Amino acid sequence: MRKIGIIVGSLRKDSYSGKVAKNIETLLKGKAEVKYIDISKLPLYNQDYDGVIETPKAYVEFRSELSSVDAIVVVTPEHNRTMPAALKNALDVGSRPYGKNSWKHKTYLVLSQSPGNLSGFGASNEVKMVLSFLNGRVMHQPEVYLANINTLLDEKGVFIPDTLKFIDSVVAKFLEF
Ligand SMILES: Cc1cc2nc3c(=O)[nH]c(=O)nc-3n(C[C@H](O)[C@H](O)[C@H](O)COP(=O)(O)O)c2cc1C
Repeated sequence: MRKIGIIVGSLRKDSYSGKVAKNIETLLKGKAEVKYIDISKLPLYNQDYDGVIETPKAYVEFRSELSSVDAIVVVTPEHNRTMPAALKNALDVGSRPYGKNSWKHKTYLVLSQSPGNLSGFGASNEVKMVLSFLNGRVMHQPEVYLANINTLLDEKGVFIPDTLKFIDSVVAKFLEF
């Protein structure tokens, strides 16, 4: 069975991104082996950690988690028209040490959400750009930008029917891709 990692770009406990991720985890049940890859424990990237001073255990574990999956679903909010710093940090940590980029040759689905109207489009685009640069295979169609996310989830955090149907079709296309 395919191994798919899920990365949530928000560190917030009640994060909408986390709720979107949970829905995707449910939709993938029985179709893939799913595991969350946590980005919250990674110290800020410092190149000295890769050669000059001891590499943090969190880096070693994170890079090994990335290596253990075939594909990754990234769900991100937008911070000031780009991805949150924690997610950019994770991208940097996984891209190094030089010559050992753990993101390469994997397949990616990137989804963004926002309680506002603009849906995290800026963040999503930049995540896709970085993953493409890192030699990842990013699914570019269909695109998923979830605007007004607070209106798309019920009180249990499950997508409302129309959104669930749409995301289910995206997940099916991602498995095909
Ligand atoms: C520092 C900061 C910057 C933000 N900038 C944007 C933004 O550029 N665009 C946007 O749609 N929402 C922005 N927001 C609002 C987030 O979309 C909102 O907090 C959202 O709930 C974050 O996702 P989460 O629930 O997964 O943490 C910003 C929030 C923070 C804390």
